[in-house]
Amino acid sequence: MLHLVLILLSLSDVLTQDSNYRVKYADNQICAVRGFSVSIPCSYYYPTSKKVTQMLWCSMNSNKDWCQYPPYVYNSASNTKSDFEFTGDDKSNCTLLIHNVQFSYSGEYKFRFITNVDKWTGDPGVTLQVTDLKVSLIRLSGNGTLKPGDSLNLKCDVNCTQSSSQFVWSKNNELLPESGTVLHFPALTLRDSGNYTCTWKTSTASGSKTISLQVEGNNLEDPESPEDPELWLIWIIVYVIAGVIVIVTVISGAVIYKRRRVHAEDDSNLYTNVKQKKSESDHHGNIRQKKSESDYHGNIRQKQDVSDVYANVKMEEDNFNLYANVS
Ligand SMILES: *[C@@H]1O[C@H](CO)[C@@H](O)[C@H](O)[C@H]1NC(C)=O
Ligand SMILES: *[C@@H]1O[C@H](CO)[C@@H](O)[C@H](O)[C@H]1NC(C)=O
Ligand SMILES: *[C@@H]1O[C@H](CO)[C@@H](O)[C@H](O)[C@H]1NC(C)=O
Ligand SMILES: *[C@@H]1O[C@H](CO)[C@@H](O)[C@H](O)[C@H]1NC(C)=O
Repeated sequence: MLHLVLILLSLSDVLTQDSNYRVKYADNQICAVRGFSVSIPCSYYYPTSKKVTQMLWCSMNSNKDWCQYPPYVYNSASNTKSDFEFTGDDKSNCTLLIHNVQFSYSGEYKFRFITNVDKWTGDPGVTLQVTDLKVSLIRLSGNGTLKPGDSLNLKCDVNCTQSSSQFVWSKNNELLPESGTVLHFPALTLRDSGNYTCTWKTSTASGSKTISLQVEGNNLEDPESPEDPELWLIWIIVYVIAGVIVIVTVISGAVIYKRRRVHAEDDSNLYTNVKQKKSESDHHGNIRQKKSESDYHGNIRQKQDVSDVYANVKMEEDNFNLYANVS
């Protein structure tokens, strides 16, 4: 009888100890992106009468079993700074934050704590998987440089077995509405050029990778060249001015020819005044004729300045009137 009581007592002691000491990891498998940070969420439990004196994290890459002996990646008893930062406390939180994750950090990690009477290691630990985030450009049409109309996908990949993760995309640091591993471009335009960033997130880790997209095309089609329409306008103005100059020159030539013919036939009442200044690109012509029954009047003014063209031709002969005014 006494024997049975003793067995029961010792059994209950074992059960009590088992249920009072515990380390709980939120996930047994955690993914991280190389170069970024990852948090390993962790909680620990022990009888409330006990006091925690030391907290330790160890890696199975450099330790074994229950991490009874060094080395440790974190040791609350030593003040060394490293990529492994303890963000928990000496009560119940044993979360470990790993900065600047490297491929060599892959492996299993365990938390161990020591109270004023006992020691406990959370086993099995958490397995950390380190991966690179990859953004690849997949051409669906076209080759060589990217041209307007080409079709492509940007695909974001992370080699990881962790279940719940999400992908978000941004362009030139502005969040895009699309999410998921693939960003689809059915037909590129010049406006699609830019830096595209894929950000991968889980509850404990994140990482991002940027790819630059350069769509090349004819500059005249480039909506970001506002000087083009003005250039066209300037050319049109130049052609109009050149046309006006040609017309004016022809008319003034005709008037001078007419005047000379008149001069040769009859010089009774003739008045002529022709003035030209070629050095300043300023042509000025004034022709006036008076005959007994006919009256010629010509006035030609021409300024070859780009901004101002003015021509005025007037001719009168008997009952015939010719009048041209271009400005
Ligand atoms: C433990 O600490 C981490 C970092 O300080 C915090 O993010 C987390 O919420 C804490 N966990 C609990 C269960 O309080
Ligand atoms: C690019 O595409 C053109 C037309 O589709 C094809 O003739 C040419 O061989 C391709 N060049 C390469 C390097 O794939
Ligand atoms: C993904 O990781 C596994 C295991 O770490 C490796 O064997 C495999 O080659 C990786 N795949 C890629 C695409 O990196
Ligand atoms: C894209 O990234 C490159 C390199 O970081 C930078 O020089 C360029 O200005 C960026 N372009 C835009 C549109 O932000």
